[in-house]
Amino acid sequence: MEDYREITKKWRQRPNENYGGYHLADRPAPDPELTETGPRTPAGEYWRRFWFPICLSEEVTNRPLRKRILSEDLVVYRDGEGNCGLLHLHCSHRNMSLEFGIIEERGIRCAYHGWLYDYDGTVIETPGEPAGSPLCEKVKQGAYPVREFKGLVFAYMGPMSELPDFPIYDTFDLDGHELVPYRLSYPCNYLQVAENTMDPIHTVYLHTLVGETQFEETWGITPVLKFNDGETGLYSTLTYRVDDMIWVRTQQTVFPTFSHVGAFWETGKEEKYFLRSSITKWTVPIDDTNSMIIAWRHFGPAIDPDGKGKRDEVKIESVDFEGQTEARDYDEMQRNPGDYEAQVSIGPIARHAAENLGKTDQGVMMLRNRLRRGIRDVANGNPVVHYDGNKPIKNLYTQDTVMPIPKRDDMDDDELMAAVAEEVMRIVREGDNFAGAEREAFIIENLKKIKSDNRFVVGE
Ligand SMILES: [Fe+2]
Repeated sequence: MEDYREITKKWRQRPNENYGGYHLADRPAPDPELTETGPRTPAGEYWRRFWFPICLSEEVTNRPLRKRILSEDLVVYRDGEGNCGLLHLHCSHRNMSLEFGIIEERGIRCAYHGWLYDYDGTVIETPGEPAGSPLCEKVKQGAYPVREFKGLVFAYMGPMSELPDFPIYDTFDLDGHELVPYRLSYPCNYLQVAENTMDPIHTVYLHTLVGETQFEETWGITPVLKFNDGETGLYSTLTYRVDDMIWVRTQQTVFPTFSHVGAFWETGKEEKYFLRSSITKWTVPIDDTNSMIIAWRHFGPAIDPDGKGKRDEVKIESVDFEGQTEARDYDEMQRNPGDYEAQVSIGPIARHAAENLGKTDQGVMMLRNRLRRGIRDVANGNPVVHYDGNKPIKNLYTQDTVMPIPKRDDMDDDELMAAVAEEVMRIVREGDNFAGAEREAFIIENLKKIKSDNRFVVGE
């Protein structure tokens, strides 16, 4: 495969002149290494080394549900015993679709000739065949392990010899948080949707200054940015000056596309320490030109003390903030575009070679570089390195902290903000020596010391 960076370089070697549309009229090809996730593709092999959600638990009933994931056609169902099965769509006998199958007490029965399958792909019965037929032993239906967790159904679609532990993160079970599942569809490649979290400057423009204020006015302040690169994930710190307060927001993406967004309705105006995720989301490829976000919105006093979130709007193809789905008038989309319009209008698959990235796109570049590295590692036969190793509960860094630290005469304010962010993250990382409530207590206590020590305040 030709290195995509070479393709990009070549595409850029073209006349650059005013009224030069003629020279720019063609479009470069997409980057197949990062964007194609079907069976046996490099990114597809990489994706098939992780657990990720494929639907909501409430979608899995005693009626078979056809699903397309990583360009594979599948059926998901729940049998009478409550077992959730994820099987290849086409029956192993004559390939009729199991979306027309009949769910039994145990397994799903193909409507064509009555073959009965268990959730692990075992052929339980081949009723039309003579007694003693070896078909039940010889044939297996393609099946994948699933795990239901807090209203989401997760699958692992890789080789069983590399099955990782089901990863549990600290934000899955926080005091004062209630997780409400939802799912949104996007008619475009997964990567351009997933990149959003590592593109924090879009919140200043898309969500605040260019259209309407979609969240809080203070989101229109340009933050001091820092992106932190890592082998298993990235995090960014966005540090805002809001009057006499400094607000440090940390957002994180664990590879491939597992992301965490900080407190949603945060204004940065009131003192607070280590508020956690308001969205825990995975961006999952359906096929190369369709994807979905499967996620939890976090509600409850610890993340949304003023109760601004709207729980009843959080469900399939709906979430309680603007511009996330196609369900808007075209007029409204044009007047006040949101994430959906931004990501989908890029096209079915982004053409990275046609982009001109700048300093603020560093997070996007890191994400692409790291994904490429991971994809190539798997292609070279190396095992995937999972976030936080085998820790039973994996610590995430997503957080919001707001502290009263006024501007100083003796220091550039951007430098002050960068130093505060550095100190906040030093403490958050030090928290890795602890787990659960102990970790949270350690981090909050030490963040509060930044203020009580007057560490960043002069003249006390
Ligand atoms: Fe956004």
